[in-house]
Amino acid sequence: MSEPIIDLYPHLGSLAKDYVTLDNDTRIDWIRSPRWIGYPKAKDILNKLDDLLIYPKRHRMPNLLIVGDSNSGKTMIADRFSSMHKAYEKDNNEGVVIPVLSIQAPPVPSESRLYSNILDKIFAPYRPSDSAEKKHHQVVHLVRACNVQMLIIDEIHSILAGNLEKQRVFLSVLRNLGNELKIPIVGLGTKDALRALKTDPQLDNRFKPILLAKWEYTTDYRRLLASFESVLPLKNPSNLSDKAIALKLLSMTEGLLGELSELLSDAAIEAIVTGKECIDLELLSKLDWLAPTARRSQRL
Ligand SMILES: Nc1ncnc2c1ncn2[C@@H]1O[C@H](COP(=O)(O)OP(=O)(O)OP(=O)(O)O)[C@@H](O)[C@H]1O
Ligand SMILES: [Mg+2]
Repeated sequence: MSEPIIDLYPHLGSLAKDYVTLDNDTRIDWIRSPRWIGYPKAKDILNKLDDLLIYPKRHRMPNLLIVGDSNSGKTMIADRFSSMHKAYEKDNNEGVVIPVLSIQAPPVPSESRLYSNILDKIFAPYRPSDSAEKKHHQVVHLVRACNVQMLIIDEIHSILAGNLEKQRVFLSVLRNLGNELKIPIVGLGTKDALRALKTDPQLDNRFKPILLAKWEYTTDYRRLLASFESVLPLKNPSNLSDKAIALKLLSMTEGLLGELSELLSDAAIEAIVTGKECIDLELLSKLDWLAPTARRSQRL
């Protein structure tokens, strides 16, 4: 009779199980490498983006505004969505299809720079000094030619870096671009983005805000911690979703996903280097870590 296989690492997912027996440097490199961890709010937003992508074309397309603090995971969601809808070449050299075009908002509300960012993203040749009108024609032509179905604009709160008149003009450019191309526009930004869009009532109506809130001590949060634990290749279980450690992590990161990801990576590396092989309250309290607010006030 064959021996039953004993699972030495029941706290780990299959990929982390592959890594856990490798040498420390390889494990540390793996911990530092970027990864996607799914959670309900992100899945909800990805589903909404999927719905928007297949929305029938009409004059007034619905738009979405993903609002969240800095380091809350907005760009990761947009990148994840783009990677699920990658650009591809059509058969017989008939050109390229870019279902999702994702750009950064220009640092100031400038129509010409918005077009430049779009043209850069699709590697279109242009002269930065070309008139906004010329770039606009080129953008509309290329966006149609590449079958772009959605425009994502990150850091859209940058609109506020201009005076009210410039903001107004920029918002009407966005509105017209959406109307002309008949594609949904998805903005990502901090709460300031909401304030910026409110200055254009017609756009405000069409940008449905969806909030990526800070994490609180909920079942979803504890599941998120369990997901992190399952991807960090440590030999011993940390039980991160237990109340005391979950609350400690929450206060150290102030509920921000980017902070949590960084803190857990630092802690996992420390757990490997010290040979402890798990993250516990003692290890966390010995880490050189400042909560975001304290870090900010130290910088001032
Ligand atoms: N779904 C996720 N899975 C794993 N890690 C994540 C996830 N989302 C975010 N992170 C971590 O949080 C960090 C910050 O995320 P992101 O850059 O998306 O935040 P942001 O909201 O766009 O911030 P900012 O407003 O400053 O641009 C990422 O670099 C990554 O380490
Ligand atoms: Mg971002």
